[in-house]
Amino acid sequence: MSNRKNIAPNDLSAFWMPFTSNRQFKQAPRMMVAAKDMHYTASDGRKILDGTAGLWCVNAGHCRPKITEAIQNQAAVLDYAPAFQMGHPIVFELANRLVDIAPKGMDHVFFTNSGSESVDTALKIALAYQRVKGQGSRTRLIGRERGYHGVNFGGISVGGIVTNRKMFGTLLTGVDHMPHTHLPEKNAFSRGEPEHGADIASELERIVALHDASTIAAVIVEPVAGSTGVLIPPKGYLQKLRDICTKHGILLIFDEVITGFGRLGTPFAADYFGVTPDIITTAKGVSNGVIPMGAVFVTKEIHDAFMTGPEHMIEFFHGYTYSGNPIASAAALGTLDTYKEEGLLTRGAELAPYWEDALHSLKGEPNVIDIRNIGLIGAIELQPIAGEPTKRAFSAFVKAFERGALIRTTGDIIALSPPLIITKGQIDELIDHVREVLNLID
Ligand SMILES: Cc1ncc(COP(=O)(O)O)c(C=O)c1O
Repeated sequence: MSNRKNIAPNDLSAFWMPFTSNRQFKQAPRMMVAAKDMHYTASDGRKILDGTAGLWCVNAGHCRPKITEAIQNQAAVLDYAPAFQMGHPIVFELANRLVDIAPKGMDHVFFTNSGSESVDTALKIALAYQRVKGQGSRTRLIGRERGYHGVNFGGISVGGIVTNRKMFGTLLTGVDHMPHTHLPEKNAFSRGEPEHGADIASELERIVALHDASTIAAVIVEPVAGSTGVLIPPKGYLQKLRDICTKHGILLIFDEVITGFGRLGTPFAADYFGVTPDIITTAKGVSNGVIPMGAVFVTKEIHDAFMTGPEHMIEFFHGYTYSGNPIASAAALGTLDTYKEEGLLTRGAELAPYWEDALHSLKGEPNVIDIRNIGLIGAIELQPIAGEPTKRAFSAFVKAFERGALIRTTGDIIALSPPLIITKGQIDELIDHVREVLNLID
């Protein structure tokens, strides 16, 4: 039994915070107490401009009335319905609405509660699909160096960020990785898709030659790698991957957990690049980050392959207690309504040129070694302090918060992804904050 009695409400020690430097945070906490539209309110009353849509998820901005109302109403009418062998109307409505905006051919949706669960669900669908098609030898999964696919065992196995993998044993077997596409020596300060590097896709041919296509179930990539520090695919790269996968009967999975729902100025990155995968994983923007939800889109071909055997039998032994939870579904419907009414799934396309110019105006500021952008995503890469990687960017993050802007850092890269409602004036404000901070830190 715990001997910690009468803990004061402001004791921060019990909560072990995720992906956080706990000791640093608890010495100087950064607490948000409210949010509205483009701003958070910090516990000391200061307004903080949200340069990251929370964690790449609050695409419609904060505390939007349609979403709040939808949640309140749903909570009073149907709080929960069992997800297995039972249904409730709005989850079916939501699936239809999602299919309506998804890339052509993505006809079915499987609900999860997070990006990590969407990824593991997609990997399981891919493996099971190959098996129901009589190709049970296709068990290998191919990811990419520097990929981020969440934190569950499937996701970290195909992922390629060493800190997220090295502590956790041998992970899934039968996984291989393609090289990442980051070529700073050739592509630094590119605007949009970089010119060089499409040929890196042919490394997949090398992996196929090594293992044989008959052993490979699926390839998974983020169309734009986000969490590793915004790596934008070279022109033509994704189409090449698509072609190689098609040639060898390998499923292609796009992890659109951050690129889905308008981030690039199109509903999905698949639309932006004109490349359609077989499976798309999403989360975050599907419910504006308000209530946990994820959605995996699959083609009719994949879905229908499972619809065989006796009709009373479960076709796919997978699902979560909260798959398609009524309140999360209501939040997602409120989110889709807000996106539609305000044209947010394509607003990024109008703002992208202004965003690009604003970001690239930081070229020449202290320690800036690269700037990358696409849609409403931006990255400013800093020269690391010798012997102290990540420290410079982390100082920028802390200083920016103190001065009224939320930015995100990974390694020595500042990543920006504001809510899609941002104005041009707020873009200027955000970039000015970053400029000021770059001139303040060591
Ligand atoms: C591409 C990608 N996949 C998966 C995830 C994991 O999502 P979650 O944190 O909701 O599990 C993320 C989160 O940032 C992501 O960017």
